[in-house]
Amino acid sequence: MGGAFEPKRDPAPIGVSRTDSIRPFSLNLTFYYNRLSVWLLVSFFALSLLSMRDTMLVTGGAGFIGSNFILQRSEADSCTLVNLDKLTYAGNLCNLESIAGYSRYEFVRGDIGDHLLVRQLLEKHQPAAIIHFAAESHVDRSIRGPADFITTNIDGTFALLEETRTFWTSLPEPDKTRFRFLHVSTDEVYGSLGPDGPPFTENTPYAPNSPYAASKASSDHLVRAYYHTYGMPTLTTNCSNNYGRFQFPEKLIPLMILNAREGKQLPVYGDGRNVRDWLYVEDHCAAIATVLRHGRPGETYNIGGWNEKPNIEIVETICDLVDEMGPRRAGSRRELITFVRDRPGHDRRYAMDARKIERELGWRPKETFETGIRKTVRWYLEHEDWVRDVTSGSYRQWIATHYSV
Ligand code: NAD
Ligand code: DAU
Repeated sequence: MGGAFEPKRDPAPIGVSRTDSIRPFSLNLTFYYNRLSVWLLVSFFALSLLSMRDTMLVTGGAGFIGSNFILQRSEADSCTLVNLDKLTYAGNLCNLESIAGYSRYEFVRGDIGDHLLVRQLLEKHQPAAIIHFAAESHVDRSIRGPADFITTNIDGTFALLEETRTFWTSLPEPDKTRFRFLHVSTDEVYGSLGPDGPPFTENTPYAPNSPYAASKASSDHLVRAYYHTYGMPTLTTNCSNNYGRFQFPEKLIPLMILNAREGKQLPVYGDGRNVRDWLYVEDHCAAIATVLRHGRPGETYNIGGWNEKPNIEIVETICDLVDEMGPRRAGSRRELITFVRDRPGHDRRYAMDARKIERELGWRPKETFETGIRKTVRWYLEHEDWVRDVTSGSYRQWIATHYSV
């Protein structure tokens, strides 16, 4: 996206005081030492005040990535975090139990499509940034019933953008220039790659194939339009497949871990050779924070793990780790792998070229797949309470319906 509304100067990054960029030091050492303690004191208070004042509105913060993001930011930043989440089947407040009583965290149950609620939240909290995670996110559910995907991902994002535009337009400077709307999106908007196709870049044309991907593509276009038309300082991130704690066990990795643990069938779609690029969720959250602070408004950033793997390899790795952590008398978990009917329109391969975010913002994933998947398997095996909590009646109904054919 190019720059009709590029801000004239670099605003202070969200959550960081402008004092960061002030360099009052003189080369004269006496002057330096005399003033140092005063300057440190003043800048410490300025930093605390400014960053204390910053509030981030996080949508979908009770979901998998959103809750990891809130927990990570609550440790790393001194911002106030307001979490707007509808608590669909995928939202779970247990994820955020450890910060539930914090004075700098507030949970609001509600729908991003509720104009009045969003308006009131913006007026009340005056956020410096909105990080938009809320979405219907499961491809298989979008194939069985696309309506909710249109309502939340398209209409909901539109409502959020409209209310944000009204709020942002009324902001005084420098708050208006500093404000950010960060939209969290997916690599699926780019469509499917052949075995030798070059990884998706930010310039790859959109070609979404599932109703989920089409709804996310649509929301990406709306976000883009709000930057180009109104100059609203938006940022978009497109990320590959995440894995880690708190992922709802309808998705490949947690589903396989839990089924393997329980000695159930491991349903692999088609020939199991579809390829995804996997990124540890905490790396994704760190990338979002980086884009929020240093990304250029109007730009999109691809985020990926440089870690392409066929599904069957992922499932075999999980079997081996579950065997290692809890051996099974009946033999290796690999024996539970069952090839089942393919997902309709199943994208063959995704791969992300994440060089722009590395070149421009200095972000790269820290976790390797080997360490990340080991931590993840261990987390699910050690958190039976969490699993029991989320695998409620509606979860069991989804599994029964989806895997019965
Ligand atoms: P998730 O399904 O785990 O969580 C979604 C959250 O949004 C839930 O807490 C749910 O209650 C909430 N929500 C749904 N509809 C809402 C509404 N109308 N109003 C308010 N809240 C609502 O999803 P996730 O995997 O954490 O994904 C978060 C975002 O990241 C999504 O936008 C998704 O498209 C994107 N993304 C996900 C991945 C991935 O691998 N999971 C990869 C790239 C991008
Ligand atoms: O690429 C980013 C996307 O990754 C996100 O935008 C989505 O929100 C997220 O759900 C994820 O989509 P996928 O469809 O790639 O993820 P899922 O875990 O559903 O499936 C991963 C691969 O595993 C995919 O090729 C389908 C396959 N699969 C999945 C399930 C649930 C199976 O073989 N068996 C299964 O039971």
